[in-house]
Amino acid sequence: MASNSGIILGIESSCDETAAAVVRAGEQVLSNVVFSQIAIHQPYGGVVPELASREHLRAIVPVVRRALVDAGQSYQSIDAVAVTQGPGLAGALLVGISYAKALAFALDKPLIAVNHLEGHIHAVLLEERQHGNHLVNFPVIALVVSGGHTHLYLAEQRQETWSYRNVGRTRDDAAGEAFDKVAKLLGLGYPGGPIIDKLSKFGNPAAVKFASPQLKHPDRNDKSTEENGARFDFSYSGIKTAVLRYVETHNLQAEIETRRNHMGRINKPTIEDHRSACPQNILDLIASFQRTIVEDLIRKTLQACRNYNAATLFVTGGVAANNELRSRFELEARKEGIQVFFPSRSLSTDNAAMIAAAAYPKLITEDFATMDFSAEPGLILK
Ligand code: KG4
Ligand code: ZN
Repeated sequence: MASNSGIILGIESSCDETAAAVVRAGEQVLSNVVFSQIAIHQPYGGVVPELASREHLRAIVPVVRRALVDAGQSYQSIDAVAVTQGPGLAGALLVGISYAKALAFALDKPLIAVNHLEGHIHAVLLEERQHGNHLVNFPVIALVVSGGHTHLYLAEQRQETWSYRNVGRTRDDAAGEAFDKVAKLLGLGYPGGPIIDKLSKFGNPAAVKFASPQLKHPDRNDKSTEENGARFDFSYSGIKTAVLRYVETHNLQAEIETRRNHMGRINKPTIEDHRSACPQNILDLIASFQRTIVEDLIRKTLQACRNYNAATLFVTGGVAANNELRSRFELEARKEGIQVFFPSRSLSTDNAAMIAAAAYPKLITEDFATMDFSAEPGLILK
């Protein structure tokens, strides 16, 4: 191994967060700095890739410097530099990768390329180790549910090496994307997930009956069903269309436009601002939408757990911060005798501590990247 202490500087820039963190031995977070670009993308109702790259360029040097200072480390005292290779926005990824390469080269330290989705999975492992729990009961199913992904993996570990088999994914929109699009559609702002999460508790989740998300036809391009057994795919573009249809048939457009303009004039709206701008029928619609998504995620994930006889379930990624999702998963998984783990909310959404944690097994096995590796926006986890 390259070092006895395993202090890794992680860098993450795959989407709209510029993040750097220092983690010791994959289990002790020494610092975790996240610079969010939300305020920059908010007026556009979603992430604008060109703006994201520009903001990463502005933020990367101070964010890394802050992570080192907070950790009480120097550039020289770290053992390796880890960076997100993909999946994500090409231009955004390149900022982190170029900077990580330059640092590793100048400092003569190993460079480690990390898959962002593996990072989300290791956020769970990192925190369990931090709490003194080093024992993972296999088989492990991991649900990575975020703005860009809704993926189910069967995760395996052989000595220090982790491998993953995809056993489910969304055929269209990711669950977080559905939260964001529905919030935008209802004039609530961006990102939609946290707003819908907080507003849902004021609405009646049984008020609007949405059909549970259905897959229209088997994925003909996907040969993995025959090769690797059952699949548990998701689909969330239909529910977004169902919300749109509800808005049209109930003539809610004018009311939504008024809210959109009103919210646009408030700098950093609080949840009270949102709530007072929503009549009860909108709160009911929001709660019903969230309930439908949560139930579908739980039903398919638990089907996969039963199929693979999972002892442990990890639920991670931005949507794993959702309160209803967490409490319902805890309840339903317990009924089935499956242990369920989530990262804390701050490590559910994008951060660099998870990248440094996922890099630790690669530091031990000296699985280093060469200087010519590049961003892979569609990188697959395996
Ligand atoms: O993991 P993440 O930070 O970035 C990606 O890799 O995509 O996830 C961001 C996504 C966004 O779609 C956001 O709306 C959603 O996670 N999200 C939530 C919550 N917090 C963030 N969705 C539902 N409930 C939340 N509390
Ligand atoms: Zn993510």
